[in-house]
Amino acid sequence: MGTDPQQAAGKPAAKRQFRIWRGDETGGDLKDYTVEVNEGEVVLDVIHRLQATEAPDLACRWNCKAGKCGSCSMEINGKPRLGCMTRMSTFEESETVTVTPLRTFPVIRDLVTDVSFNYEKARETPAFAPPADVAPGDYRMQQVDVERSQEFRKCIECFLCQNVCHVIRDHDENKPAFSGPRYFIRAAELDMHPLDARTDRREYAQSDMGLGFCNITKCCTEVCPEHIKITDNGIIPMKERVVDRRYDPLVWLGNKIFRRGQVPQTSATSGHSSGAVTSGAAQGGAHAHGGGSHAGGVHSHAGGSHDSAAERQAQQGVNWHREVPHPTAPAVDANGKLPLTELTFNKAAAPSPFGDDVTFPLPPEHLNFAHPQQDEPKH
Ligand code: SF4
Ligand code: SF4
Ligand code: FES
Repeated sequence: MGTDPQQAAGKPAAKRQFRIWRGDETGGDLKDYTVEVNEGEVVLDVIHRLQATEAPDLACRWNCKAGKCGSCSMEINGKPRLGCMTRMSTFEESETVTVTPLRTFPVIRDLVTDVSFNYEKARETPAFAPPADVAPGDYRMQQVDVERSQEFRKCIECFLCQNVCHVIRDHDENKPAFSGPRYFIRAAELDMHPLDARTDRREYAQSDMGLGFCNITKCCTEVCPEHIKITDNGIIPMKERVVDRRYDPLVWLGNKIFRRGQVPQTSATSGHSSGAVTSGAAQGGAHAHGGGSHAGGVHSHAGGSHDSAAERQAQQGVNWHREVPHPTAPAVDANGKLPLTELTFNKAAAPSPFGDDVTFPLPPEHLNFAHPQQDEPKH
C-alpha cells in the first residue's frame, strides 16, 4: 500500500466522527461511524475508507476526484458541496461531519440521487441554432465573444446550484415549470453567442424556463464550485433585458418604428419560438457584433436595427476579409457518412476531417487564427 502519508508527514492519523445517511427511496437514517482521517484528506477519501472497511455497501457516486466531473455532489454539514473538494482540515477535529444526499432529487441509495430532472431540463433547453446562411467553416468568432461566455462553459454539471435553489428544493410542484440556475446560465451563454440564430433566448427563459420564479437569493452562486457568478452575470442581466424588452416604452416604440426584431425564420429558429423572432441587434447589441455579420456578409440584420458602433468595434478585432484556408470536405460515402474502413483503408481509423493530404504542423502562414491585436485597421 506504499508509505503511510501520515507517517511521512510525521503526524498520527486521527479518529473522527462521521454521520452518514443510509437508506433508499423507502426511507433511511443517519448512521454513526468513527473513522481514521489522515492529513490532507478530503471527505470523499473518508467515504472510500469506510467503503473499504466497515461499510462496503455504502453507495456514493464519484469519478474524477479532482473537482471536474461533478459526480460527488452531496450535502456536508448541511451545505451542498463536492466530496472530493472538501478538505477535512476545514472542520474542527472534535466536529462530527454529517454527510447526506442532495435533498432536491430523489434518493436512489445512500448518497446517490436520481438527478435525471436536470437531464430533462437540458433536453428542453433549445440548442445552439447556427445561422442558416453561414456555412460551417465560415464561422468566425471574436476572442471577446468567446471570453464573454467562457465563465458559463466552466460548468461541471454538479447540480449543486439546482439542489440549493429554494424554488424546487422543497417544492416538487415547481419542477415542471422551472429549469433552474444551471440552465439559466446555458440560456445566458447562448444569448451572448453572436452566431446563435435564436434571438428569443431571454423571452424563452422567462416564459418557458421559469426565470420569473427566481428572486435572486444568490444561493446558487454561493455553492457553485466553479465560482460562476450565476446570478450577477447570468440571471440578473437576462432579467433586466426581459424587463427592457417587455416594459420599456422607448424600446417598444423603437422596435415598432424600425421593425427591429424581424429576421427570417429558419428551421433552427422556428422550433420553439413563440411569436416573432427578434434580432440580437435589437436587444442590447449582444448579437450586433460578431462573426456572423461579416462572414461573407451574409448574416442578416434587419433594416434599421444595424448597430454600426458595434460593427466598427467588431472590425477592430479580426480582419474578416483576410485570406484563410478553407476546410476541405471530409471523404464521405454515398450516405454522407464517414466510412468505417478499419480493415480496408490504408490508414488507421476514419479519414482525417482536414483531408488526408494535409500534414501537421501546418506552416504558420496557413494558420487561420488571428490574434485580436494583430489586425488593427489602418487609419
Ligand atoms: S438566485 Fe434564483 S436561481 Fe439562484 S438559488 Fe436563488 S432563486 Fe434559485
Ligand atoms: S453552475 Fe456551478 S453549481 Fe451549477 S451545475 Fe454548474 S458547476 Fe455546478
Ligand atoms: S469526483 Fe469528480 S467532482 Fe468530485
